[in-house]
Amino acid sequence: MPLTFSLAATAPASLETPLLAVVLPSEPTLTDELTALDGLLHGALMRTLARRDFRGGRDESLLLVGGEQGVQRVLLVGRGTAPLSRIGARRAAAVAARQAGKLGTGALHLWLPGGDAASVEGLVIGAAAGSWGYPDLQTPPPERDRRARVEQVTIIAPDSEAARAAFAAGVAVAEGQAIAKRLGQMPGNYCTPETFAEVGRDIATRHGMGITVLGRKEMADLGMGAFLCVAQGTPQEPRLVALEYRGAGADQRPVVLIGKGLCFDTGGISIKPAPEMEWMKFDMSGAGGVMGAMEAIGRLKPAINVVGIIGSTTNMPSGEAVKPGDVVRASNGKTIEIINTDAEGRLVLADLLVFAKRYNPSIALDAATLTGAIVIGLGQHAVGVFSTDRTAADEVLAAGEAAGEPGWPMPMWDEYREQIKSDVADVKNTGGRAAGSITAALFLQEFVDGFPFVHLDVAGTAYSQSDLGWIPKGPTGTPVGTFVEFVRARART
Ligand code: BES
Ligand code: MN
Ligand code: ZN
Repeated sequence: MPLTFSLAATAPASLETPLLAVVLPSEPTLTDELTALDGLLHGALMRTLARRDFRGGRDESLLLVGGEQGVQRVLLVGRGTAPLSRIGARRAAAVAARQAGKLGTGALHLWLPGGDAASVEGLVIGAAAGSWGYPDLQTPPPERDRRARVEQVTIIAPDSEAARAAFAAGVAVAEGQAIAKRLGQMPGNYCTPETFAEVGRDIATRHGMGITVLGRKEMADLGMGAFLCVAQGTPQEPRLVALEYRGAGADQRPVVLIGKGLCFDTGGISIKPAPEMEWMKFDMSGAGGVMGAMEAIGRLKPAINVVGIIGSTTNMPSGEAVKPGDVVRASNGKTIEIINTDAEGRLVLADLLVFAKRYNPSIALDAATLTGAIVIGLGQHAVGVFSTDRTAADEVLAAGEAAGEPGWPMPMWDEYREQIKSDVADVKNTGGRAAGSITAALFLQEFVDGFPFVHLDVAGTAYSQSDLGWIPKGPTGTPVGTFVEFVRARART
C-alpha cells in the first residue's frame, strides 16, 4: 500500500515498465529521444502526433500500447503551452498517476523530456497527489475486479546533484501532504484530537523533535478560557500539540506554524444548517497542514528552527456548551464576548497565539479553515493572506506561489476593528456578515504580541468539493506546500 519513489537516469527506451508516462508540451514534435521510444511502438507515436490525435494540451492524455516486455504501455500526457515549471510538472504527473490508477499498473515511470530539477520535484509531488487515496473504510472489490493502486513511482531524469536534491524535496513535501490529506479525509469519529497527539508523537519520534501535548487540565492551568470554551460541549479530551524542530542554534528565534484543528464543527449552540454539514470534518485542515509541514521539515532538515502548534477539539452543542452572550477569558487576560458559537476557530487560535509567544517567534503563520466568507470572496483558487506586516505577507505570498498554492492579500485596516468592539468584554468573537474574513483576522491580531504574524484562511483551498481533474475531490494538501516553501526560503537566507 505505501507509495515508494525512486529516481533513475535510465534511457526511456530501455526501461522495463508496465507504464511509461511521457509529459509533453503543446504541439509536441518528435525528438531523437522520442524517436528511440517510437521504435518500440512501431511508429505509433509518430503517427499519433502526425494525425494530431494528441496535441499536448494541459490535462490531455492518450495511451499507446507497447510490447509484451520492456515499455509495455506509453501514456502521453500534455502540459500545455505554459513554460516548464514545477507546478506544470506536478499537474501532468497527477494526471498520469490518476490514469495509472485506473489502468491498475501498480508501477509508473514518469519522464518529462528536457525537464530541469524543479520539474523533478513537481513530478514527485504530482504523482503522489494523483495516486493518493483513503481506501481504509471501503470494502475492496472482488479480486477479479480489482485494479492495483500505484505503489512504485520512478522519475526518469539525468543524474545530477540538483536532480537528487529536488527529488528528495519532492518526496518530503509529498509525504507531508499525504499526512495532511489523510487527516483531512478521516471522518470526525476517526480523526479526533487524540489522533493529532498520536500523529505528533510519531513525527517527533521519527525525526527527533521535541513534543508537548496538553489536555483540558493543563490548558485550564494556563488560563486558556477561549480554547476551552469551544471544548466545553464535548466530553472528548481537547489537545494542544506543539512540535519543536531544531535545525539551528538555540538562540535562533523559530518560525512558528499554527493550525486550527476542529475535528468537526457543528457550529455548537449556534448550530449550522444540516445540508453539507458533513464537510465540516475538514475543519482540521490547518492543523493537518501544520502536521504535514512538520513531517516534510523533519525529512528536509533545513538549517532553521521551526515550531508547529495545533489546537484540536470538536465544536458540539450540549447542555454544557458555551452559549451566545457568554464571556470567556483568554490566556493573555483579554475577555471575549461570544456572539456566535460557530466562530470557534478564532477562539482556539487566540490561545494558541498567546502560547506561541513562549517560543519567541521570529514570525508566526497560522492556517485555518476560518470563514465561509473567504470561500465567497476568493473561491477555491486562492488562500486569503492577512497581515498587518506587508513584508511578511509578501514573503508568504511568494512561498504560496512557488508551491502552487497561490494566495491573495487582504486588508486589515483599523476601520474594520469597530465591528468587533463589545459592550461587555474587550472584544466580540464575530463582527457581522460584512467583511467576515477580515474581522476574523483582526480578532486573531488581538492575541499577537511581539512578533510578525500572517494568517492564512484556507477555508476555500484546503479541500475541494469537486473533482479538479488532476486531483480528486477532497483534501488538496494546502497549506503544506506554502509552509514548507516559506521555511526553506528562510533557511536559505
Ligand atoms: N469552519 C467554519 C468556516 C467554514 C465555513 C469553512 C464554510 C469552510 C466552509 C468556521 O468555524 C465558521 O463557522 N465560521 C463562521 C463565522 C461566522 C459565525 C461569523 C462562518 O464563516 O459562517
Ligand atoms: Mn464554525
Ligand atoms: Zn470552524
